Amino acid sequence: MNVAICPGSFDPVTIGHLDIITRASKLFDRVLVVVSVNSSKRPKFTAQERVELIRRCVTHLSNVQVETFDGLLADYARQKGATAIVKGLRAVSDFEYEFQMALINKKLYPQAETVFLTTSAENMYLSSSVVKDIASYGGDISSLVPACILPDIRRRFACWEGRNENGKQCGSDPQ
Ligand code: PNS
Repeated sequence: MNVAICPGSFDPVTIGHLDIITRASKLFDRVLVVVSVNSSKRPKFTAQERVELIRRCVTHLSNVQVETFDGLLADYARQKGATAIVKGLRAVSDFEYEFQMALINKKLYPQAETVFLTTSAENMYLSSSVVKDIASYGGDISSLVPACILPDIRRRFACWEGRNENGKQCGSDPQ
């Protein structure tokens, strides 16, 4: 059985992530989506919240499981007997970082190959950071995140007397 892991911060999961997870589920027998810690980021959602948001989006994918892991990805891959680490690649700007990660993971756990799936053209511009930035101003993110988690994200960035919890101005009704 080919086990692949799909790691990321997923803060929050976007339609771009979901596209990569869905395509990976067709290529591998089992896909483990792992919410990992990226030490250079301050997440907006807890790891458990992110796991639950993703779980809600993948209920129709019977070979996909979602977990969290606070450690080295290579150790997680070893524990699970994974043979592939699947990452989405959007643009040249992603490449250097992803290339470095792939080489590090290969060094730490040579049994897994990093497999890059090119992003679908319509998601080229999309990232969790873009979603959070738009949401923090009360902008429309309905075409950027899966519909079933849209209320959760809006709630996290909800406007209160014209400002959200970050103190940013946000005009439109979050509902
Ligand atoms: O979605 P992201 O933030 O680009 O995902 C990056 C992530 C979480 C996959 C990466 O930071 C990671 O693998 N973190 C776990 C710790 C680890 O294994 N680091 C690599 C060796 S320095």
